[in-house]
Amino acid sequence: MSLSSQKHLFQLPDDVHYLNCAYMSPLLKSVEEAGLRGLQRKRNPAALTPADFFSETEAVKAKFGQLVNGPAAQMAVIPSASYGLSTAMANVPGHSGQHAVTVADEFPSGVYAIHDWCRRNGTTMLTVPTPQGAVAKGAEWNRHLLEAINADTAAVLISSIHWTNGTIFDLEAIGRRCKEVGAVFIVDGTQSVGAKPIDVQAAQIDALVVAAYKWMMGPYSIGMAYYSPYFNNGFPLENSWMTRANAHDFTSLTNYTDAYFPGAARYDMGEFSNFMLMPMLDAALSQLLEWEPARIQDYAGRLTAPLIDRLLAHGFGLEDPDWRAQHLFGFQLPPHMDKTALMQLLQSKKIYVSTRGSAIRVSAHAFNTQDDVEALMVALE
Ligand SMILES: Cc1ncc(COP(=O)(O)O)c(C=O)c1O
Repeated sequence: MSLSSQKHLFQLPDDVHYLNCAYMSPLLKSVEEAGLRGLQRKRNPAALTPADFFSETEAVKAKFGQLVNGPAAQMAVIPSASYGLSTAMANVPGHSGQHAVTVADEFPSGVYAIHDWCRRNGTTMLTVPTPQGAVAKGAEWNRHLLEAINADTAAVLISSIHWTNGTIFDLEAIGRRCKEVGAVFIVDGTQSVGAKPIDVQAAQIDALVVAAYKWMMGPYSIGMAYYSPYFNNGFPLENSWMTRANAHDFTSLTNYTDAYFPGAARYDMGEFSNFMLMPMLDAALSQLLEWEPARIQDYAGRLTAPLIDRLLAHGFGLEDPDWRAQHLFGFQLPPHMDKTALMQLLQSKKIYVSTRGSAIRVSAHAFNTQDDVEALMVALE
């Protein structure tokens, strides 16, 4: 059954038209309540058992695994996308003559991780530029990306969709190409995971990194990553005691060990069992699994369809539907329109979208209603 508006599960003010989940999701009531309960737990630390440090995280890993189709043991808790992407790149071997492939205007969290990898290994970054000319660039951009991956490619690091305008990257085709040449495939899923289906196994992704505060509907300063077994013997960024094989027994922590818990647990950040953020993320993931990413994608598509029609009719530039995400898309203004004046007008009407590069970025989720889209259409007219 398809989704209807879920606005009642949030506390967005009625006069706010928030078409900007790509910036930060509003708080679900259930997530807020979980956070408050979590905060209050520290009133009485005696009630927190050593087992609590691990069991809640295990549940969250299982739920995230369900969302992206991977085993819980291959999941890790991260504080930010930059942390998860740096962890992945730090474990990619490289030597002079090799490169990492990314696309133009990739989000900086990934680009800086590549820069660091280049500095350490004498390697280079190869950026696939945005095709010039026509507004709809997705098909050509994807073709150029696949062509750029060759025997000298050590890694490909891209976002699952482009964060500025929602261009879809064909993850399965890219994953296949990476496997053909032996490149590590690293995906920043921050702008789609939760609102759009993804399957780490079907796309042969080696690392999928997601900050939780956007489409995963979670709090800020926490995220989740999937690392394939390729990474199972790698090195984490920090030396946490909590990832070591003896960590469950708080009485024997000074029996120091180099052994980690199996799978990707070595990449869990220090103090991963955050007693406020973890229950919030757990509640957010429960809600997402109930909604289902495919149904959110469908809802966002139905909601914004009249807007898309009107944008096209009025000469705003848009990507082709096959290469444009439903929950996040950018449109180019016609030459006569002043972007700054438009943004001021939208703000005065409490309509929230983003400008990213030369595009206006609209993002829609299940908390949005027809009213939000109607308000934006009227303002654009
Ligand atoms: C594609 C993408 N990745 C990551 C982030 C956030 O990165 P970090 O968690 O490193 O702050 C954003 C935020 O806008 C984003 O759009």
